[in-house]
Amino acid sequence: MSISVPTNTTLSVGIAGTGALGSAVAHALINGIDGLKLTHLSDLTPNKDFNIPYVDFDELANECDIIVECLPPKAVPELAEKVLKAQKTLIMISSCALLIYPEILDIHKDTHSRIIVPSGALSGIDGVKALKELGIISSKIASTKHPRGFTGAPYVDKMGIDLTQIKTKTKIFEGNAFEAANAFPANVNVAATLSLAALGPEKTRVEIWADPEAKGNMHELTIEGTYSTLYSRIENKPDPANPKSSMLAAQSIVSALKDMHNQLIVL
Ligand SMILES: NC(=O)c1ccc[n+]([C@@H]2O[C@H](COP(=O)([O-])OP(=O)(O)OC[C@H]3O[C@@H](n4cnc5c(N)ncnc54)[C@H](O)[C@@H]3O)[C@@H](O)[C@H]2O)c1
Repeated sequence: MSISVPTNTTLSVGIAGTGALGSAVAHALINGIDGLKLTHLSDLTPNKDFNIPYVDFDELANECDIIVECLPPKAVPELAEKVLKAQKTLIMISSCALLIYPEILDIHKDTHSRIIVPSGALSGIDGVKALKELGIISSKIASTKHPRGFTGAPYVDKMGIDLTQIKTKTKIFEGNAFEAANAFPANVNVAATLSLAALGPEKTRVEIWADPEAKGNMHELTIEGTYSTLYSRIENKPDPANPKSSMLAAQSIVSALKDMHNQLIVL
């Protein structure tokens, strides 16, 4: 249950990318989130289900108070530059873009804009943030998917890994979050989000496991703090609209949007 802040101000929301995640967020906004109104969308291919104007990134950034990014990572820098220079709030689900394109944070630091990174497909980020206040000693994420979920990953191609020959659960990569971002760019948002919440990309250990028995995507965190150790595991079934995504990630954006006006916020 949440109680909304009484306010006469309605904030306008735009969504960049109306694929699997962006469409789910659009539906939630159309169904009604207190204090927010979906006013603009942007995509290379407009979705005719939505009776909302499609505009370019410039108009999205200038016309909306909050812009929700649901794009492929390579499209994020162009959007981010426009939103941040317009001093707006950017809800960024492709968190790996902050590792791959550090210029986004360079632009951000000279503005009064905000970047909000939702928990996405992860669980336990609330605990990680609290642990950080007391000191984190080590931070690790192990992600497990079916081998076919790694098809086309640069590291798989570079190392000549034959995914069809993996018959039991196998660790196919170990490195830090920077190395993972380059090795598995399509799979690494969770590692990027953890690194932003905890020790940064160099000190965030990442393991990638391929498991022919996996029914979905599993992410396990092991965070050793000065006074607490956090273990978190989440198993996400694939999003039917995009098997490489997860339903939970869209709902983490919806939750972040609701917190914009909620009077009772549980973090
Ligand atoms: N943080 C997390 O835990 C998490 C979890 C799942 C997905 N993601 C990320 O969320 C993002 C969106 O995922 P999705 O499943 O909705 O992807 P998707 O492929 O279903 O949708 C992406 C949309 O962006 C549009 N698009 C592509 N290039 C564009 C451009 N230059 N301008 C405008 N529109 C453009 C496409 O037409 C498409 O509709 C991806 O980057 C994905 O990696 C993050």
